[in-house]
Amino acid sequence: MKRIVFFGLLIVALIACEQIPLHNDEPVKLRIPSQFPEMTFPKGNEPTKLRIALGRILFYDKRLSTNHDISCSSCHILSSAFTDGKTVSHGRMGHSGKRNAPTLANIAWMPRLMMEGGVPSLEAQALAPLHDSLEMGFNMMVYVDELNEDENLKAMAKAAYGRDSIDPYVVTCALSAFQRTFISGDSRYDRYKSGYKNEMSEMEMAGMSLFFSEKTKCSECHSEPFFTDFGYYNIGLEADYKDTGKERATHDSSDIGKFKTPTLRNIELTGPYMHDGRMSTLEEVVSFINRGEKLHANQDERIVPLHLSDEEQAQIVAFLKTLTDWNFVQNANLLAPPER
Ligand code: HEC
Ligand code: HEC
Repeated sequence: MKRIVFFGLLIVALIACEQIPLHNDEPVKLRIPSQFPEMTFPKGNEPTKLRIALGRILFYDKRLSTNHDISCSSCHILSSAFTDGKTVSHGRMGHSGKRNAPTLANIAWMPRLMMEGGVPSLEAQALAPLHDSLEMGFNMMVYVDELNEDENLKAMAKAAYGRDSIDPYVVTCALSAFQRTFISGDSRYDRYKSGYKNEMSEMEMAGMSLFFSEKTKCSECHSEPFFTDFGYYNIGLEADYKDTGKERATHDSSDIGKFKTPTLRNIELTGPYMHDGRMSTLEEVVSFINRGEKLHANQDERIVPLHLSDEEQAQIVAFLKTLTDWNFVQNANLLAPPER
């Protein structure tokens, strides 16, 4: 009788063990395009197979929102280079947000996050959308409880971070580890630069010369290799900014209307444009910068009338479209993970 109980228990134990997946983690070497600087990682969140896999699950997980109706990927959609095609992002229950969702391409190299630069690291940033009632309306503590009912996720957290459960630390670290794999440096322009000279047409090359010229100074702010200098400028969008931009973080009136220079990589896919999505086409943006009307005291001195012809403006737009990285936006490893 005792024996039967013993073997019975043993079988139950074996079945139970089988249900808890065992995970082995291993370091991952991210492939960095040769024209980009090395990527650095915070200590304890170097990339590993399971950290990235866990972040990928969470990025696409609707349990992240109070009403289980949105995830990070609702506003950051891969096919649009992780933007959402909307003027300003629509958050929970149709509340309108205030800003246009930015691309997350090459986000690992961004020294400060959010349009006013108020957030110093990806690890800190993940908490911002989660806590913003306009975005995900989410309470981390409630959410974590629910995730911990998922034995597979718990086992992943253990193997990836040595934690016994999914906690806010694990969520933010894993989301960051996944987002650091959003690397985009394989556009036609990059191929042209690495020697494949017939990747670009005459018109695109003419636009490229204008873009990098003294005349337009586009590349002073949108500088290589990310097509942003990570600086903050007022480009004279209006006389009276409702969203005051960098001033919100510094409370310094000389920062009113200053926003982070957006990357122009994949720009063809990330419209509408500007912090509030006020412009729907690249033609509109280039025509606006070409007018260079003086509207604001903080306006950067490089935003002045450029006197570009219609043809020159069209050439610049053509050049901007060579910055699209089709392999990036079709990378299956960045899509939602297959159903488990
Ligand atoms: C409702 C839409 C929405 C959702 C959901 C959302 N975001 Fe965002 N995200 C935005 C908007 C809008 C901004 C720009 C906010 C700003 O600059 O003030 C942004 C900014 C960011 C940035 C900073 C980008 C930069 O260039 O500085 C990162 C990183 C980011 N989001 C990641 C995430 C992650 C991770 C999640 C899920 C946990 C998420 N987002 C959920 C709309 C959204
Ligand atoms: C003084 C720095 C500066 C110069 C010079 C400049 N830009 Fe920009 N650009 C910015 C900033 C800052 C923004 C974002 C402004 C905002 O959202 O309020 C921007 C926005 C854009 C956008 C929209 C990006 C998006 O994702 O919404 C495009 C496209 C663009 N610039 C192209 C150009 C081109 C082409 C030139 C040259 C003709 C140029 N820029 C010159 C700083 C600059």
